[in-house]
Amino acid sequence: MNPSALVEPDRVHRSVYTDPAIFELEMTHIWEKTWVYCGHESQVPNVGDYWTLQIGRQPMVMVRDQDRSVRVLYNRCPHRGVELCGNQKGNTGRAFVCSYHAWTFHLDGRVRAIPLMKGYDGTRLTPDNPDCSMKAAARVDSYRGFVFASLSAEGPSLAEFLGDAKVAFDDMCDRSPVGEVEVVPICHRVVQHSNWKFFMENQLDALHPSVTHQSTGVPARRVENRIKAEQGKAPLFFHYLSTFASSFDQWDSVQTVNFPNGHGILKGYMGLRPTDPDTLEHEALLKKAYGEEKAEEYLSRSIHHVLIYPYLSVQSPLQQLRCLRPTAANRTLSEIWHFRLKGVPEAIYRRSLWYYNLVNSPATMINADDLENWIKGQWGLEASKAGDWVSFHRNFGGDTEKDGVIYSNNGTSEAVMRSQFRAWAEYMKPAAAQTVRAA
Ligand code: FES
Ligand SMILES: [Fe+2]
Repeated sequence: MNPSALVEPDRVHRSVYTDPAIFELEMTHIWEKTWVYCGHESQVPNVGDYWTLQIGRQPMVMVRDQDRSVRVLYNRCPHRGVELCGNQKGNTGRAFVCSYHAWTFHLDGRVRAIPLMKGYDGTRLTPDNPDCSMKAAARVDSYRGFVFASLSAEGPSLAEFLGDAKVAFDDMCDRSPVGEVEVVPICHRVVQHSNWKFFMENQLDALHPSVTHQSTGVPARRVENRIKAEQGKAPLFFHYLSTFASSFDQWDSVQTVNFPNGHGILKGYMGLRPTDPDTLEHEALLKKAYGEEKAEEYLSRSIHHVLIYPYLSVQSPLQQLRCLRPTAANRTLSEIWHFRLKGVPEAIYRRSLWYYNLVNSPATMINADDLENWIKGQWGLEASKAGDWVSFHRNFGGDTEKDGVIYSNNGTSEAVMRSQFRAWAEYMKPAAAQTVRAA
């Protein structure tokens, strides 16, 4: 099967969402090659703290080493392959100790001790043999405290990979007067019974909110208006929900910016800069830290959502981050995080928490509606014989492209999906070349 034949400029074949063979190719040519988000440094604050995760099909562990650096290692004992860290997270002390035969390893993965070493005398297994140590990810790097790893020694640097989408992390951290955020160590982990692409497409899909989320947005707006009429103003969290019921014209006026590597930005539409005393106090702290001009620049970036393709959705003004770890063509684990800006009033943190609880948590009416669409989408594409193609024709030919970046002229343009599949096809080129050679 040649993956490049499945993607056309304005439509894609349904098998890219459903075929397990395509999923395996994606793991090989995308996830196990590119930079993958591991977590935030503050998830492992102390020496020996670890967090386990999946990069592509590989079980990995992110750990804080004694020299304070963050390592990313394969979570596998080199003796007989047992997973070294069986828990999601914890503290392993000064060493990893295998539960099976007690080989131990330094926090950078180097073997520390093998019990009864003399049993290996005369064999090719000697402690200086790298096969005795835990294997490390080929590359680890971080940007503003957000840690990434690549299982491939080759390819672009992290800075090149992130490109202009690094603004996701700048926009989040610059809202702190000390330029840092800290993870809130509660992470919802949700298994979505749908292909990962549904989530990625949906994040910048401005055509769906006023339909999918109408049942939440419209009542929220009614209550918000009633409170405003009675009290002059309504709490900001009503606004989080009521904007989902914006008109199609309003959605069309919000631009998406789509980068060549599939990353993208949905510009701001929510009006997240009220003039209440908490916000004014926060802004005064930023002005003191950065000066009037810089603080204004930081506060007026037009961003609602930044996507790092193919797995990260960052809502920087609200300190939200969601990360995908696909496990099958029709199954995707998502991690849902939020962050605390260091050095700001507690009221500003509560706004992130509201958004986390009202919109991004799996228990909310918003996320639940999205999940239902994605699973029904998966069922339709897997089962239905009524058609083989998924349409991305909306505003096709009507966007503006400059230096490889596609700027939508209509917010509801399916430029987002077309751009993501342009990146997908690029990643999958080696797979396509192999198929052609084999044919
Ligand atoms: S499998 Fe780990 S020490 Fe034997
Ligand atoms: Fe949605």
